[in-house]
Amino acid sequence: MNKTKTKHPSGAPWRNFYGRFKGKGLRKSQEAYLTEDLARLSPGPVTWEDNPDRAPLKLDAMFGDKPVWLEIGFGAGEHLVHQAQRYPDVGIIGCEPYINGVAMLLRKIRDADVSNLRVFPGDVRNMFDVLPGGSIEKAFLLYPDPWPKKRHHRRRFVTQDHLAPLYTVLAPGAEFRVATDIPDYVRQTLIEVPKAGFEWLAERPGDWRHPWEDWYSTRYEMKALREGRMPHYMTFRKPD
Ligand SMILES: C[S@@+](CC[C@H](N)C(=O)[O-])C[C@H]1O[C@@H](n2cnc3c(N)ncnc32)[C@H](O)[C@@H]1O
Repeated sequence: MNKTKTKHPSGAPWRNFYGRFKGKGLRKSQEAYLTEDLARLSPGPVTWEDNPDRAPLKLDAMFGDKPVWLEIGFGAGEHLVHQAQRYPDVGIIGCEPYINGVAMLLRKIRDADVSNLRVFPGDVRNMFDVLPGGSIEKAFLLYPDPWPKKRHHRRRFVTQDHLAPLYTVLAPGAEFRVATDIPDYVRQTLIEVPKAGFEWLAERPGDWRHPWEDWYSTRYEMKALREGRMPHYMTFRKPD
C-alpha cells in the first residue's frame, strides 16, 4: 500500500485491517441467512460508502429508550445471543468483519428468536465514527486477536487508536469488559486501557480468574481451555 495515502477515494481514512474477512466457502443456508437477514438487522448506514458524511446513527429508532451495548469482534456470536436473551430490555450491537462468523450468528439469532440485536458485518472502527458520543453503556472485547509477535503488538485492539474512539462513544459510568488468554495481552491491556482514561475495577488480586456472573463461554475461550491456556477477565469503567 502507498503509505503516503491517508484516505480512500470515498473519503474514508486508510485503516489497515489484518484479520480475515472470509474463510472457507459459505454453505447455501449461510448465504441465505446473509441475504435474507442482514438488511433487517442493520444498525443503519455505517460504512463510508453508505454514510460519507458520518451522520450519527439513530439509536432510539432502533431500540427506543433501551440502554445500548456493543460487542466488538463477536466471532460466531454465542456470547452476543446469550446476552440478548438474558437482557431483553437492552439493545445490543455486534460488529464482526469475518463473514463466516456473521453467518453463524445469524443462524443463532433465528434459533433464539431475539429482536434486540443489530449486526454490523465490518470493522468496529467504522462503527465508532457513527455512534453518538456517550451512547454505549457497556462494551465487550472478548478474546481479541492476540497478535503474539512483538512487532505486531501495535495491531492489537488495546492500542490508543482503538481505545480513544471507544472511550468517546461510551457513556460516563459505562463498563468495558475484556477477556483474553494471553498473559502479554493482559499486560498491554492493563497499561493501555487505564491510559485511555478507564478505571480497572479489580477489588482483589485474584479477581481476573473469575468470569462475570452472566458470562457465556465463547468458542475461542473453549479452544484456549482445551489447549491449556488460562482465561483472564478484566472489568474497566469509564469514570462519571
Ligand atoms: C480471536 S477471535 C474471538 C472471537 C470471539 N469473541 C470469541 O471469543 O470466540 C477475534 C475476533 O475479532 C474480530 N476482529 C478483529 N478486528 C476487528 C475489528 N477491527 N472490528 C471488529 N471485529 C474485529 C476478528 O474478526 C475475530 O473474529
